[in-house]
Amino acid sequence: MMSRETFDLVHSVLSTLAYAFVFLVGLTLLALCLVYLLDVSQTKQALRRNYPVVAHFRYVFEHLGSFFRQYFFAMDREEMPFNRAQRSWVYRAAKNLDTTQAFGSTRDIHQPGALIFVNCPFPTLGIDATPVSSLIIGASCPQPFTANSLFNISGMSYGALSKPAVQALSRGAKLAGCWLNTGEGGLSPWHLESGCDLVFQIGTAKYGVRDAQGNLCDARLREVAAHAQVRMFEIKLSQGAKPGKGGILPGAKVSAEIASIRGIAAGQDSISPNRHPDINSVDDLLDMIARIRRVTGKPVGFKCVLGAYGWLDALFSRIRQRGMDSAPDFITLDSADGGTGAAPTSLMDYMGLSIRESLPMLVDRLQSHGLKSRIRVIASGKLINPAEVAWALCLGADFVVSARGFMMALGCIQALQCNRNTCPTGITTHNPRLQKGLNPDHKAQRVHHYVHNLAHEVAVIAHACGVREPRELQRYHCHQVMQGGRSRALSELFPLPAPPAAAQRIPLREPALGDELAEPKHPHG
Ligand SMILES: Cc1cc2nc3c(=O)[nH]c(=O)nc-3n(C[C@H](O)[C@H](O)[C@H](O)COP(=O)(O)O)c2cc1C
Repeated sequence: MMSRETFDLVHSVLSTLAYAFVFLVGLTLLALCLVYLLDVSQTKQALRRNYPVVAHFRYVFEHLGSFFRQYFFAMDREEMPFNRAQRSWVYRAAKNLDTTQAFGSTRDIHQPGALIFVNCPFPTLGIDATPVSSLIIGASCPQPFTANSLFNISGMSYGALSKPAVQALSRGAKLAGCWLNTGEGGLSPWHLESGCDLVFQIGTAKYGVRDAQGNLCDARLREVAAHAQVRMFEIKLSQGAKPGKGGILPGAKVSAEIASIRGIAAGQDSISPNRHPDINSVDDLLDMIARIRRVTGKPVGFKCVLGAYGWLDALFSRIRQRGMDSAPDFITLDSADGGTGAAPTSLMDYMGLSIRESLPMLVDRLQSHGLKSRIRVIASGKLINPAEVAWALCLGADFVVSARGFMMALGCIQALQCNRNTCPTGITTHNPRLQKGLNPDHKAQRVHHYVHNLAHEVAVIAHACGVREPRELQRYHCHQVMQGGRSRALSELFPLPAPPAAAQRIPLREPALGDELAEPKHPHG
């Protein structure tokens, strides 16, 4: 039997709950009435006016839809910009987990455009394999750079990225022995703290190396170059996601610290000009390269995405007239489908050529002007998995860099919110609450593993093709599937032109072990 006190207690709890329930129902009804009145009286949204209250479900579902599609409905190779298969490889490589798969491939190798490598009947044995060779960039500079890693971190500014993200990349680059490009936002203490190799990018606003009027300042350049870690300087002409548009950093992300590093006002949108005001022709470009090299003593190159490409011939002809020393030490070629912190959709979706088309174009022109071994080629644009990197090497890239591959190594889930300061993984936000989840030391390990495992698997591809190391990959090692399902070698699709007769003949690469076995006499035989 229940005692009187217990009964009273249960009774009072139940009646309180009942009152609370009635109160909540009443409150909900009141809120719905309020929403109804607001919906029918507003004039901005037709849907809310015509279907008061229920119209809100559309907005909720539209928001939730992106999560449902990503987690439940999108197939492994369906999503953009990166599908689940591509992302999973990066996540597993970064966590140093097994990247092997069971049962069979889910990739459709019959699709036009698909890339496949041609295996050698007698692959390179482990004992014959050699480590990836280092390459010197800017051999004739007072301070040339010997780069050891063929896969490196592409430019992302401190500002677009959070402090812990930059720290993780910097520490990871040090562990992995690769370089980190600062992006156009200047050099921060967080780039420098690990001691990793850095490439300083000079954007159109010359953040970090500008005077009060926004012009390039030699004294500031000298200060930046005085850091031994800063190995090279990159003039940014354009980037794939927004050719013809300068950097955009929303005011919400321009903290006092970022403002002082860049030399601008805090809290205001940081918008750089849509090109370097002082570079208006190929001669201006060569003059600027010469000036920065003279002031810094270090290799200087430029980054661009190709659209119109006739200017390359003008540039390379001019270099031959002015002399080999006038050449940029490297060209970073970005793909039209490259990433960004923020860009107008029309430029992102419609402007520029993809790396698939532009990389052979650039390499062929360098080759035909006899400049291929003078100017190093750095390729970027969705080259985040080993096969894509190997493809770029086959076509003649000397290095590959990635931005979003490394963001994924830091834990990016492709939430597509880099421009909103709400990045849920703390990578592209300055909200301290969201940054808390990103531990720089832990993620530095992931960056390290990603570089290591990617390089390892590119070497696996190279060895299966019968060469000793990835830098020996050639165009005939990779095929592209055409309409109808038959594949053609890249050497057929993009035959490498002969260098000019007057120039000293420089082979694209040294002949490699197994080349004669790998090169098919009849491409389809
Ligand atoms: C968040 C973010 C910030 C970026 N900031 C810069 C930048 O400051 N300068 C630049 O040249 N490119 C910038 N990029 C472009 C990348 O460096 C790279 O060229 C492009 O994303 C293609 O590489 P990916 O496909 O591996 O990401 C940025 C990209 C992202 C995603």
